[in-house]
Amino acid sequence: MKIINSIVHMQALAIAPERDGRKIAFVPTMGFLHEGHASLLREGRKRADVLVLSIFVNPIQFGKNEDLDRYPKDMERDCQIAEACGVDIVFIPTAAEMYPSGFQTGVTVREISLPLCGASRPGHFDGVATVVAKLFNIVRPDLALFGTKDYQQLAVIRRMTADLNMPVEIVGMPIVREADGVAMSSRNAYLSPHERQSALCLIQALRRARELFAGGERSIAVLMKEARAVVMQEAAAVIDYIEFRDGATLQELDVADDSTLLALAVKIGQTRLIDNTVLGEVL
Ligand code: PAF
Repeated sequence: MKIINSIVHMQALAIAPERDGRKIAFVPTMGFLHEGHASLLREGRKRADVLVLSIFVNPIQFGKNEDLDRYPKDMERDCQIAEACGVDIVFIPTAAEMYPSGFQTGVTVREISLPLCGASRPGHFDGVATVVAKLFNIVRPDLALFGTKDYQQLAVIRRMTADLNMPVEIVGMPIVREADGVAMSSRNAYLSPHERQSALCLIQALRRARELFAGGERSIAVLMKEARAVVMQEAAAVIDYIEFRDGATLQELDVADDSTLLALAVKIGQTRLIDNTVLGEVL
């Protein structure tokens, strides 16, 4: 497994497979890898000849009072996981390499970036779209894999890739959960044992809405009331948003159907967690 820090070197390595028709699968991450990332890497390994992982905590997708400075890191462990998943190249650029002085270009994906996390974290998806566009130009992948825990991020990246005619297949992979249902996230590392217990309210709210939907309830007002009530029972939880949206366009709805997305962001202490489900999706 090669570890590459320079953009020019990474681009040079990507050209050879492109020339002789070998496929590159790419998993972009911010590191502190967990089983969710490993599932993306294993799928990428199956689907391509060359598997590239990037680890870059992208400063331009963090707001002023967010966790950029304390984002968890463990490069040694990340490299062990990468190796075990069959990664060929780990690309680990520095912020100075990615954003040298004079850098001034950004990618904005408009409407789909505005609600949900886009409303709570202004500018976040500009930062994500910009770095992913740069990484695609550096790694030149045939396919790139993302988790659906970041549902809106995946929708933004799909829109950007289609709108800008990027020749990359975007693969969305299912949310990987701990045994008790909490979605895997690098940010779970911030939770104290008590907060980890409180974090269960997210999956409980999703389960409650799914249960009602499966029983025939279609009113968003009713589903919303029930999902909110579950989270509000947890004293340590502060709701950022709980929203039901069209799963494709992310537009607001009054009536739910199989493709309705329930997305939530909840603060447990200092840690903001997100999770989601598509109501009619068989899990
Ligand atoms: O999901 C993430 O880890 C990041 O947002 C991504 C896609 C690697 C861009 O920095």
